[in-house]
Amino acid sequence: MQQLTDQYNRSHDYLRISLTDNCNLRCFYCMPDENYLFSPSYKLMQTQEIRQLAGIFVELGVKKIRLTGGEPLVRKDAPAILEALSELPVELTLTTNGTLVHRFINLMKDAGIGSVNISLDTLSPDKFLFITRRDEFRKVKNNIDLLLNRGFGVKINVVVMKGLNDAEIPDFIAWTKDLPVQIRFIEFMPFTGNRWSSNKVVTWQEIMHTAGQSYAFMPLTSMPNETAKTYRVNGYIGSFAVISTMSAPFCSSCNRMRLTADGKMKNCLFSKEETDLLAALRAGEPIVPLIERSVWNKQKELGGQFSADLAHVSAGSIQNRSMIAIGG
Ligand code: 5AD
Ligand code: SF4
Repeated sequence: MQQLTDQYNRSHDYLRISLTDNCNLRCFYCMPDENYLFSPSYKLMQTQEIRQLAGIFVELGVKKIRLTGGEPLVRKDAPAILEALSELPVELTLTTNGTLVHRFINLMKDAGIGSVNISLDTLSPDKFLFITRRDEFRKVKNNIDLLLNRGFGVKINVVVMKGLNDAEIPDFIAWTKDLPVQIRFIEFMPFTGNRWSSNKVVTWQEIMHTAGQSYAFMPLTSMPNETAKTYRVNGYIGSFAVISTMSAPFCSSCNRMRLTADGKMKNCLFSKEETDLLAALRAGEPIVPLIERSVWNKQKELGGQFSADLAHVSAGSIQNRSMIAIGG
C-alpha cells in the first residue's frame, strides 16, 4: 500500500471532505456574516467527482474519510454522495450540526457510518440562538438522543469561548454521567472574519482547571494521531476531551488532509496554499502527483502561519479562508 508522507515523515491516511460551504445555521465564529455568498453549485465537486477523488486518495492509503461542511446534510445530493462513498474500503464519518439528522438516519446506517460528531456549543436554548442565529436547539438535542438510541457513537464538539460558554463546562461533563457521549472542548481558533482574539480563547489548561473544580477524573489512553486528550470522570459512562489546537498543537503527529467543497486540497487547516484537484480532474490531468506534492510541502506546524504563543498571534495577518469555506 502506498503512503502519503511529508518532509517531516508524517504519513497521511485521513481525509476530510467538505461537501458544501452552505449551512442552515449561522454560527458567528464560523460564518463571517449573514450575507455570506455560498458557492454556486457548478463550482462544487459533483457526486461522481467526489467519488473519483476520494477513490484516488484511498489508493494512496487513506483509511478514514470524514464528511464536513458547512453543513454536509444541506446538500440535496447528500444521499447519493453517502451511498457512493460507502463503496470505498474506509471508515466513513460525518461532522454535522445535527439539525437534519432525523431525515438521514437510515441512510447513515446503510452507508456504514458508525460514529457522528455533532457541533453544539451550549446547553441553553437562548445562547444557542445567540451563537447560531437560528432557533434549532431542540432539534439538535432530540437528534443526539435519536443517534444514541440507534446505536451510533456520538461526539459533541463544543467550541469554548471566554465569557460565552466557558461556565457550561461542568454542565457538559455532567451529561457524560449516564450517556455514552464524548464531549470535546475545542479551543477557539482564528479564521478569516470570525472576531477571534487571544483573550477569547479558553486554553486547555483553563478547561482542565474548571473541570477539576467540579470533578475527579482520569486520563484515558489516546490513539496515535488523536487530536483530543481524553478523560473520564470516575464512575461515568461517557468521557470528555480537550482539543488544544491553539495552546498545545498536535501537528507533529498530524495525519490529515482536506478537500474543500470546491475541490481544492489543503494539506493543513491553516495552510495558505491550495491545490486545485477539481480543475485538474475536469481537465483530465493526473491527480496523484498533485496530491503527493501538496502533502510533501506541508508546513511543520499550524500552516507556518503562527505559533502556540497565543498572546502573539495576529489574527489579521493569517491568510486563510473563513471556517465555513474550509470545512471543519
Ligand atoms: N474554532 C474552533 N472550532 C471551530 N469550529 C468551527 N469554527 C471554529 C473555530 N473558529 C468547529 C465547529 C465544528 C468543527 C468541525 O469545527 O464547531 O464542530
Ligand atoms: Fe454551520 Fe457548523 Fe459553521 Fe455553525 S459551525 S455555521 S453549524 S457549519
